[in-house]
Amino acid sequence: MRLLSARLIVSLIVGITLVSLCASYYQVLVVKRGMGEDLEHRAAVLADNISGSVDHELSHEAKEALQHTIERFAEREHLAGVAVYDAHGDLVAVTQNLQAELATAPVVVAQSLKSDQSADAFLHFDKTPVHIYAVPLHHDAELIGSLAIVHDTSYIRSEALRIWRETFLSALAHVVLIVLITLLIVRWSIAGPIARTALWMKALRTGRAGAAHGKPDLELFRPLAREVATLAASLNTARSAAELEARLRETAESLWTADRLAIRVRDRLEDGQLFIVSNREPYMHIRRGKNVEVKVPPSGLVTALEPVLRACGGTWVAHGSGDADLEAVDARSRLAVPPDDPRYKLRRVWLTKEEEQGYYYGFANEGLWPLCHIAHTRPVFRASDWQHYKDVNRKFAAALLEEMEDVEHPVVLLQDYHFALLPRMIKKERPDARVALFWHIPWPNPEAFRICPWQSELVDGLLAADLLGFHIQAHCTNFLQTVDRIVESRINWEHFSVQRLNHHTAVRPFPISVEFSDAAAEIRAESAYEERGALLKSLGVEAARMGIGVDRIDYTKGILERFLAIERLLEKYPEYQGTFTFVQIGAPSRTHIKRYHDLQAEVEAEAERINWRFQMEHWKPIVLLNRQHSHEEIGQYYRAADLCLVTSLHDGMNLVAKEFVAARHDERGVLILSCFTGAARELLDAVQVNPYDIDQVAEAIRTALEMEPEEKQMRMQRMRKIVREHNVYRWAGRLIVDLCDVRLDGQEPDGRKLRASAS
Ligand code: G6P
Repeated sequence: MRLLSARLIVSLIVGITLVSLCASYYQVLVVKRGMGEDLEHRAAVLADNISGSVDHELSHEAKEALQHTIERFAEREHLAGVAVYDAHGDLVAVTQNLQAELATAPVVVAQSLKSDQSADAFLHFDKTPVHIYAVPLHHDAELIGSLAIVHDTSYIRSEALRIWRETFLSALAHVVLIVLITLLIVRWSIAGPIARTALWMKALRTGRAGAAHGKPDLELFRPLAREVATLAASLNTARSAAELEARLRETAESLWTADRLAIRVRDRLEDGQLFIVSNREPYMHIRRGKNVEVKVPPSGLVTALEPVLRACGGTWVAHGSGDADLEAVDARSRLAVPPDDPRYKLRRVWLTKEEEQGYYYGFANEGLWPLCHIAHTRPVFRASDWQHYKDVNRKFAAALLEEMEDVEHPVVLLQDYHFALLPRMIKKERPDARVALFWHIPWPNPEAFRICPWQSELVDGLLAADLLGFHIQAHCTNFLQTVDRIVESRINWEHFSVQRLNHHTAVRPFPISVEFSDAAAEIRAESAYEERGALLKSLGVEAARMGIGVDRIDYTKGILERFLAIERLLEKYPEYQGTFTFVQIGAPSRTHIKRYHDLQAEVEAEAERINWRFQMEHWKPIVLLNRQHSHEEIGQYYRAADLCLVTSLHDGMNLVAKEFVAARHDERGVLILSCFTGAARELLDAVQVNPYDIDQVAEAIRTALEMEPEEKQMRMQRMRKIVREHNVYRWAGRLIVDLCDVRLDGQEPDGRKLRASAS
């Protein structure tokens, strides 16, 4: 930095000096020229004045009068002297002081006599610079001599010197000032931040700082700052992974981590590649005024799968649903993601409004979603929606087949109820592909499923997959029972597989999960208590205790039931009035569907009604945050809450429950969990509730608020152990390993092998 400053200063000094010199030189030239012209003018005027008298005296050879006349003018400013010559150039009269110098006629006099015109020149008498102006003298139109006016021009040189001196001083002042200002700018805006960044990076390198802590401000170098931040994050992740790996080796633990998953998957895929297909994309490009923002949509599926693809690489095919998505892709609708640290390829599929309406809003979300969730919302089945569902499945199949074109042994993980027909479409074209479909929502019992007019087509489509995954065993059983009722097949209940049309499909539970990090960088310096105070203050509420709920606004999530339970708590235990606030983060979802649109209004109205009933000056019981929040924002609420309420009326797994547990590094906080979620099978230390039983949920909130710290810690420790061990990498690892173990030769899958990998 010192060398840089020295170079900068020398360059500045040389630069400014050169510019000043050129400018001064030009200025001196201009001034000299101006003064010269002015002198000539003055000499001409003077010559005019004098010649009127002297030509008469010269013609009459009145030498004395002539001498007298020229002496009269000799006092003029800068005038050195005057001389008069006859037509032969011989001196006739001269002022006293220049007798010696003008004894012989200067060249300009001869010139003026010869040309009969005025002439001038700058000369030196001894060392004195002079200007001589000579005009011919006439009498009756006859040339009788020449008059020479001599000016001392040393004042022009003095003026030029004065300008040079002033310019030098002003250049010096400029140099000093500019160098000083530059040094200050360099110090404050460049050297300071760079020095802080260097310190921060050193701390990172030596493992003494978290990527998120004390990050220096590099406002002036945004692109550099972005890269540095990404580099720091990668370094942190790599360090945490290495530490974790070392610790796991030390304790001989077989925990799944991102790195272990990547290695395991690479080993199993050999030269194959991983492909994921889902309706929801992991990154959406959204227009905000003139800017385009990248958004991660609220989706349990995305929460779970994104870290997997980040770890393993591959291709994710999904619906491009962001309004600026088209601008972000190449000619083949592809882009590398995550945008700031690309790890895998996203292939976007474009749908028309009608297709989106029929396939996504209609068949998937008004038909299959309520059909599979027993939440007492009637499914709607329209033939036109079904047609769109089939067409869009075909469209995704075409995109996926294109992506897999040059790939041998592709491994395909299809996601969710949007693509029940896709396994058959893919297997028909690529029997060599290993295809699994994971169903992220519950599978209902055969009686409930029977009402779908296209039940056999759906089941037939699914049975082309080599492996079908559900969250829990009960959903697998429901599925096999449904198959038993609907299509011609042979079910092997011992191995949990179905044989149909000479193809075997293994059906297995794979409880989905979240990332779990023990990394020191994740642990906050602030306590939950401090974070809570700041958060509630930012919401304009004062309360000693806080609960949190995070959901898409969906009728399966039991948000209204949750609010009723809070109302019941406040009625039954008035001591919580003024002290307990529940924050509900509600991300608007599928709002084009009337049921969802209405629900949003109902949720708002219900929160308002309860608030109106109880609220005080600086307190209200429910804060409804009606927008999607980022992962980081939600993390703050998780960490600050006394309790988290998950009251789904029915849910395949519910990842909010697991996210809350993963966020509680402090081993505090109580999870209240609906027994109708898949997560309830694993998180036995949550306070489990029936969300339909409002009194029971109100009591559960009280229990959570009054629970002894030791008990809270014990429960949280046990739940954290489960989520840590059953993390999302285990889910993906087991799914992929099982899929790779499947035989593609029409033989029955090896149940023992599959079960062994499940452990
Ligand atoms: C559930 C589904 C996912 C879906 C998510 C969000 O978790 O299983 O497939 O992505 O809800 O719903 P959305 O319709 O917004 O994708």
